Amino acid sequence: MSRRGFLRAGAGAGAAAALGAAGWVGVPRITEPGQPGVLLPSATPLPRPFRTELPIPAVLQPVRTDATTDYYDIVQQRAHLDILPGLRTEAWTYHGTFPGPTIRARSGRATAVRHRNELLHPTVVHLHGGHTPADSDGYPMDVVLPAGATGTPARGHGHGITTATGSVAHGERTYLYPNRQRAASLWYHDHRHGFTGPAVWHGLAGFHLIGDEVEDALPLPRGDRDIPLCISDRSFAADGSFAYPLLDPSLHTPGVTDRYMNGVLGDVILVNGAPWPRLRVAPVRYRFRLLNASNARRYRLTLESAVPGGGFVQIGSDGGLLDHPIRHRHLDISPAERFDVVIDFAAYPPGTEVRLRNTLGTGSAADVLRFDVTGPSVPDDTAVPDRLTDLERLDPATAVAERTFLFQLRPDGWTVNGDPYEPGRALADPRRGTVEIWRFITDFHHPVHVHLDPFQVVARNNRAPGPFDAGWKDTVDVRPAEMVTVAVRFTDYAGPFMLHCHNLEHEDMAMMADFQVR
Ligand code: C2O
Ligand code: CU
Ligand code: CU
Repeated sequence: MSRRGFLRAGAGAGAAAALGAAGWVGVPRITEPGQPGVLLPSATPLPRPFRTELPIPAVLQPVRTDATTDYYDIVQQRAHLDILPGLRTEAWTYHGTFPGPTIRARSGRATAVRHRNELLHPTVVHLHGGHTPADSDGYPMDVVLPAGATGTPARGHGHGITTATGSVAHGERTYLYPNRQRAASLWYHDHRHGFTGPAVWHGLAGFHLIGDEVEDALPLPRGDRDIPLCISDRSFAADGSFAYPLLDPSLHTPGVTDRYMNGVLGDVILVNGAPWPRLRVAPVRYRFRLLNASNARRYRLTLESAVPGGGFVQIGSDGGLLDHPIRHRHLDISPAERFDVVIDFAAYPPGTEVRLRNTLGTGSAADVLRFDVTGPSVPDDTAVPDRLTDLERLDPATAVAERTFLFQLRPDGWTVNGDPYEPGRALADPRRGTVEIWRFITDFHHPVHVHLDPFQVVARNNRAPGPFDAGWKDTVDVRPAEMVTVAVRFTDYAGPFMLHCHNLEHEDMAMMADFQVR
């Protein structure tokens, strides 16, 4: 049925109810409360929900290993993906898929990833949540030019602005990740200055999961019951390609057209690259690593079914395991945040359909995924212990500095402390080994992300942290006119790192700043 057909069908109450039972009704509203952006409607018919099986991104095999390091090769390449029925979507991919292949790393064992750029424009890879030396962190000017490109601004892909102060690689670069950090669900994505939004929207994102012995010793669900879920909204042009409202289609000038400057919202919700997929689950516990890989869209995730279940049990945050599990009826997840949750499907009779819904979305944006609980009951030897791990608490009293970062819209665009991003100009110079208190103050929705080291939320609006602020975090959802106070300890690596808004349209339009670790 075409989108227009849907609208017409939705006009009759009976038809609307019937569609409601099968899935979502109609298209999302152009603007939705709780969302920063504006909907970019697809020009294709929207696919019907719950028709495709949930894809699980393949785990990448190392090309070689030695005593300390696993070596991987990833080719950044265009690929034609089957996302919508009957259409092909040209994507910019890591190794041919969206999401890219998952890297499974071990804490304390290094990962070296050689990225070869066979795309048509420069790229930068950042490991989000990685505790990474500056030269492998994906500083936005440290581009990898397309293989075979001359390195001159000739081909109209924005070389001029990205090579101003960075280290330029030709064709390929090897990123070295020490993985000297706790088990956690990280992700890698493009981070080129001014063009991160279109790059991620077109497919440049994947998981990097770190495991360790602390996690292994817990009786949590594992193996094929430990599933990463990359949630992202997208819109499609009539030919099935990704639609994105670039200000400059030649990719010289960053940003999107005025209408979308608050953020681009799509009307198709993809999970691991498939539109509203379904997953058959046994009536036992599963662990899901939720990632909001959307450019701007926020989600309030709930589980809906005829029979009530137990909700989400959060076991981890951006930076790994919590000390105690937290039960949630809903989860608010802003761009780039991760929530590690366990869902116990034993709470549902076999045959139950459990929908993962987004109550901040309307129409097609209100649905995400459907779990089909299939029988018979089977023994479940997993558990979620009341105590998961020992979590170090940073003591704000030990902080050696307090800094305030103001995220606001100014006449010259999205700014931090009044200025648009200028590579090489640091707003802070924390010393290694010290704890600092950072305050993020916003005028609007800004998911604030800090590179290098995770932080702990100490206060939200001078009160206790919110229900989704627990544990070690690297991205925090700061809503309009809020102040979030975090404690962060800078460790190990000197050099320039970034803090920025992870609404990728805001980021590209300069809501970013350097800090220089001494
Ligand atoms: Cu996920 Cu600086 O980004
Ligand atoms: Cu990051
Ligand atoms: Cu923002």
